[in-house]
Amino acid sequence: MASSSLSAVLLLCLAVAASAQLSPTFYDTTCPNALATIKSAVTAAVNKENRMGASLLRLHFHDCFVQGCDASVLLSGMEQNAIPNVMSLRGFEVIDSIKAQLETMCKQTVSCADILTVAARDSVVALGGPSWTVPLGRRDSTNANEAAANNELPPPFFDLVNLTQSFGDKGFTVTDMVALSGAHTIGQAQCQNFRDRLYNETNINSGFATSLKANCPQPTGSGDRNLANLDVSTPYSFDNAYYSNLKSQKGLLHSDQVLFTGTGGGTDNTVNNFASNPAAFSSAFASAMVKMGNLSPLTGSQGQVRISCSKVN
Ligand code: HEM
Repeated sequence: MASSSLSAVLLLCLAVAASAQLSPTFYDTTCPNALATIKSAVTAAVNKENRMGASLLRLHFHDCFVQGCDASVLLSGMEQNAIPNVMSLRGFEVIDSIKAQLETMCKQTVSCADILTVAARDSVVALGGPSWTVPLGRRDSTNANEAAANNELPPPFFDLVNLTQSFGDKGFTVTDMVALSGAHTIGQAQCQNFRDRLYNETNINSGFATSLKANCPQPTGSGDRNLANLDVSTPYSFDNAYYSNLKSQKGLLHSDQVLFTGTGGGTDNTVNNFASNPAAFSSAFASAMVKMGNLSPLTGSQGQVRISCSKVN
């Protein structure tokens, strides 16, 4: 076995060993109201602004893909300045306010990384999506890595080979990757991330493209930050409409539409299955989210439980 595959296997074993230390009952005695507190704060935040569910879900993904689910993305500066994150990630204030509530209830007990993981689940539930049990006991990093955020978060111009590689590097199957992409059934993207698709791609529904062009003009620099819904049909429901959109060439991002070619592409069957079978999507999404939440957590005496999520103690 090549040494790179050996080290990948070793990394995976370490991740599995660490996640074995996580447990859904981790706070049952030390902070019994932690989960209820997070849930009610997330529900309130989503009721106030329905996009917030999407933003919290994405925060968790961008945390876990960069040195594991360790709340590194919440440290001010650093990863937050990486290209996929800057002027794009949102929801920090919701996590900060949950953390402040939990600090008054149970001092320095519930980690920011766990708050983010539970908040991602509760966001999906608040928008009508599936629920799952979240293993807990992650601790928070004392560092963050801007370069890793730039290298390891997939950009929207990736094709299927790049996406498969990017998720494969983290231990995900292609089916996991297609299921996780279904997170784009909620939330919004900026024109600069889908402009090329509107003006330079042919696998796009023409009515769909026309409807988006007015708010996303062709010249770079005009309307770059204007927003469009990732799911054109049901933007605030966590459902399987994302996959039906792909089948009608209404994926917003290049990286969405590459999942369905209609000509027997590698992930066409999975998209067909998730489009026609909401339960299959829900269950694949839930298990892939648990897998994502288990990416290299800090446990035991590693790292720390931050008092404020935006800075180390
Ligand atoms: C498959 C590779 C992926 C790529 C290339 C990608 C790329 C993007 C881009 C470019 C945006 C718009 C950002 C902006 O314009 O400000 C976005 C938004 C979003 N992404 Fe992804 N993403 C991917 C996978 C995921 C995964 C795995 C999740 C979660 C499980 C996720 C959740 C979201 C959500 C919920 C939004 C909307 C956020 C909001 O409205 O605040 N994405 N993504």
